[in-house]
Amino acid sequence: TEVTFIMVKPDGVQRNLTGEIIRRFEAKGYYLRGLKLKQVERSLAEEHYIDLKSKPFYPGLVDYILSAPVVAMVFSGKNVVTMGRKLIGATNPLASEPGTIRGDLCIDVGRNVIHGSDSVESAQREIGLWFPEGLVEYKPHMLPWIYERM
Ligand code: GTP
Ligand code: MG
Repeated sequence: TEVTFIMVKPDGVQRNLTGEIIRRFEAKGYYLRGLKLKQVERSLAEEHYIDLKSKPFYPGLVDYILSAPVVAMVFSGKNVVTMGRKLIGATNPLASEPGTIRGDLCIDVGRNVIHGSDSVESAQREIGLWFPEGLVEYKPHMLPWIYERM
């Protein structure tokens, strides 16, 4: 099944929003496959956002990710990459709809509480970076109550 990489950024952890964010993904019907609280090393933060290296906000973005621990997660389920981005909302909280995580929980683009992979390919790359030890395999027993067919 499809997997995505989700990270509660330092502001989300500091603001005690980790539970709220996990709750939204779980309530939707997605399953945790990996979870850790981590003080990130610079090399990982830089590699994670490597595609944004040329952007003027890149140094500030890396410093933001290093500023306090993050919660790194993998969720699995049908279309979880695309739906994860919908649950998260637009990058700039001014454009995120109420009802989305960013639309409900933050104000500044540089303090937007959560990261989610933007494609299946990005998810594979990011999960490889953050969870080199691999994911946890198990069979959730509620799947027939979430999916019409599997
Ligand atoms: P992520 O899920 O964190 O990857 O966000 P995104 O995919 O919605 O946006 P993108 O990958 O383009 O940017 C990554 C992160 O950089 C954003 O979530 C913001 O935290 C930050 N960022 C993006 N654009 C700006 C900007 O214009 N100014 C500032 N200060 N930060 C920005
Ligand atoms: Mg992104």
